[in-house]
Amino acid sequence: MLCVALVALVLAGFAITVNFLASTRIYASLDDGLEAQANSIIASLPAGRLDESLIESSRPALEAEEAAGLLFQIRDSSGQVLYSSFRGSQDVLPPGGSLDQQAVYERKVAQQQLRLLHMPIDSASRGGSIEVGRPTKETDEALTEIRGTLLIGGLFALLLTSLPAYFIAGRALDPIREVSRVARRVERTSDFSQRLVERPTRDEIGELTATFNDLIGRIEQTLAAHSRFLAEASHELRRPLTILRTNLYILRDPDLPEGDRVACLERMTREASAMTRLVGDVLLLNRDRAQSLERAPVDFSRLCGEEAWRMQLAEPTASLQVQIATNLMVEGDAQRLQQVVRNLLENALNYSPQGGAVEVSLKKQNGRARLSVRDFGIGISTKELPKIFDRFYRGVEASRVHREGAGLGLSIVKYVVEGLGGDISVESRPNGATFVVELPMSQRSGKRLRDLLPVP
Ligand SMILES: Nc1ncnc2c1ncn2[C@@H]1O[C@H](COP(=O)(O)OP(=O)(O)OP(=O)(O)O)[C@@H](O)[C@H]1O
Ligand SMILES: [Mg+2]
Repeated sequence: MLCVALVALVLAGFAITVNFLASTRIYASLDDGLEAQANSIIASLPAGRLDESLIESSRPALEAEEAAGLLFQIRDSSGQVLYSSFRGSQDVLPPGGSLDQQAVYERKVAQQQLRLLHMPIDSASRGGSIEVGRPTKETDEALTEIRGTLLIGGLFALLLTSLPAYFIAGRALDPIREVSRVARRVERTSDFSQRLVERPTRDEIGELTATFNDLIGRIEQTLAAHSRFLAEASHELRRPLTILRTNLYILRDPDLPEGDRVACLERMTREASAMTRLVGDVLLLNRDRAQSLERAPVDFSRLCGEEAWRMQLAEPTASLQVQIATNLMVEGDAQRLQQVVRNLLENALNYSPQGGAVEVSLKKQNGRARLSVRDFGIGISTKELPKIFDRFYRGVEASRVHREGAGLGLSIVKYVVEGLGGDISVESRPNGATFVVELPMSQRSGKRLRDLLPVP
């Protein structure tokens, strides 16, 4: 529609310009003709001042001009009309018209519209003035014809250009209509599996189609990941809940031996802690990373040392070899960093045989703090390596070696480390795995370790 309006506007501008140029040209040549006529009438008169006697002597010639259809009027220097071929009309000039200046007028004289030229004659030899007129009927008719032609031609041109333009624009808009149709269908049905038919061409419409499909694909993937996460989280919570309910049922037995009662309570306490940890992890992973992580200077050397020591106390049979450079400050969230180190150490011990060795090293490398946790346990198969950071992923062999666990530990590690601008990498050998965490160093002074909150 806009396209048609634009074409109409251009055509109207063209018609107005042509009409203006044509009428200016036609009237200019009409005026030139009138001036030539006036000069020829004056030239046909004998020499001398314009007065009654000169006109009388030229009357036959003037009457011949009149008979030929010329409309003119000759005045003497006082403005007195000496001869007029405008029969029945004495004063053809408009009231107040100056006699001393050449001028052109449009006048209605004896029922016809005239173009009238008033021209003063050289005052020294002749004096006086002359008016020559010509009916504008023909000129006006010619101009009306031009205007009519322009109007019809313009309308025709408009039709000729706008119809194909309308169809071409309609066809060009088809893919965009298709995009909005599919978008509306997706919105109505919430079915994100729908796609637009991809176009082979990489023009703007092809780009739009590809971008739209990518967008819908991303939304579909995100939604699928969310529902998978929800399903897995619920599944993981169901296991400790079942254990709690079973133990509660057992505890109802008044004849339950004291030893079994204590064992039941210990199991329930363990499962309740596992549930608390699981809920905490799920909540953390669903939070916006930028907002959920604090940024403050943390004494990473002390933090790693403390965690290794705590782990050694919890697993006295394990052999932890610790090499930690002192005073390495990193910029991060102390509580979450504790969780990172703890998860890595727990994995190293859980997936190693009882009494296995674990090497913990922390040093400064390339301006970053580099923590490496190396074990000599079951290792990770090449097939499983890309999946171990996925939420709720647990290796087959790992689930056999260590039955408990939700598969969230490494997801938390990755979430925190990358959220703090660091990197995590893993290297697996047939006889163990090595996890390496690199974190940006802090330029500010440190936070004391005793200020740290215990990890839930
Ligand atoms: N040091 C390791 N040696 C061998 N396999 C490992 C090691 N660390 C992690 N993995 C593999 O990666 C998987 C995911 O580890 P992650 O810490 O995320 O979960 P998890 O230890 O199974 O359970 P959770 O940590 O939630 O208690 C493990 O199940 C295991 O297959
Ligand atoms: Mg783990």
